[in-house]
Amino acid sequence: MDIIDKHYGGVVVLQLNRPKNLNALNTNIMHDIVSIMSKYDKEPEVGCFVITGNEKAFAAGADIKEMVDKSYLEMLDEDFFAGWEQFVNIKTPKIAAVSGYALGGGCELAMMCDMVFAAENAKFGQPEIKLGVIPGIGGSQRLTKLIGRVKAMDMILTGKFIDAKEAKQAGLVSRIFPVETLLEETIKVAKIISNYSKPTTQKAKEVVNRAEEIGLKEGVLFERSMFHSLFATQDQKEGMKAFIEKRDPDFKGF
Ligand code: HXC
Repeated sequence: MDIIDKHYGGVVVLQLNRPKNLNALNTNIMHDIVSIMSKYDKEPEVGCFVITGNEKAFAAGADIKEMVDKSYLEMLDEDFFAGWEQFVNIKTPKIAAVSGYALGGGCELAMMCDMVFAAENAKFGQPEIKLGVIPGIGGSQRLTKLIGRVKAMDMILTGKFIDAKEAKQAGLVSRIFPVETLLEETIKVAKIISNYSKPTTQKAKEVVNRAEEIGLKEGVLFERSMFHSLFATQDQKEGMKAFIEKRDPDFKGF
C-alpha cells in the first residue's frame, strides 16, 4: 500500500508509504490519495486530514523515474499531474506534517494543504532546475504567494533547500515540533479543528484561500456572504447558545 490511512476520532491521517523512493509522488499515489480523500471528504464525522511521510522524507518530489522518458506530447495528452487539482479541491481542512525532505512535488504537496507543520529536521526546496525542468504542481505560484517573489525566485533559480526555521520565518510553515512528536502534536491540532462545525471550518478555509485569488473589496463581500450563510446552520445556533449558557458546544455538522 502506497498510502496508509488511519483514523484518530474525526481525524484521518494519510501516510505516504514509498520509503525506498523517499515517497516520490507517482501517478498511482496521486490517484490513491485523491480517491481516499474524496471518500472521507463527504463523511460528516471526518473533520480534518493530516498528510505525512516518514522521518527521512515527507516526499522528495514527483517520481523522476516515472517522468524521465516521457515526451512532450505524452505530458500534454495526459495533462500530467492535473489530477492534483482534486487534492486542492478537497473541502475538509488538511494539514501537512513534514519531516525530512519536502522537495519539488513534495514541497508543492505541502503547500496544497491548508497548514504546514514541520519537524526540526524538515528541508523544503524546489530543486527542479537541477533536472532541467521547473515546478509543475503549482510551486512557482504558491511559493511566491506564500513567501514573496524574492525568496521564491532564489529557491527556484538556485534549487537551494531551506530548513524548518527559515521556512517558518518565511511564512511557509506555521508550527515546528521535534521529529518524535510532530505527528502526535499535529493530530492534537487536527482534533481541535475536527471538533468544530464542519460547514464552518470548510467556509473558514474557503474565505482565507479566496484572499489569495481576489482583491480586498471583493474578498470582504465574499466573506460577508459566507458569514451570513452560516446562520442557516444549527451549529451557529448551538455555538452561540453554548457560549451564553457557559458550556461546551456540541456541533452536529449541519
Ligand atoms: C524518484 C527518487 C526521488 C524522486 C529520491 N528517489 N528522490 N526516485 N523520484 N523524486 C530515490 C532515489 O533514486 C533512490 O533510489 C532512493 O530514492 C533514495 O534516494 P538517495 O538519493 O539515494 O538518497 P539521499 O542520498 O539521502 O538523497 C536524498 C535527496 C535526493 C537529496 C532527497 O534523493 C534527491 O535529490 N532527490 C531528488 C529531489 C528532486 O529533484 N525533487 C524534484 C523532483 S521533480 P535508488 O533506487 O537509487 O536506491 C518534481 C517536479 C514536479 O518534483 C512537477 C511535476 C509535473
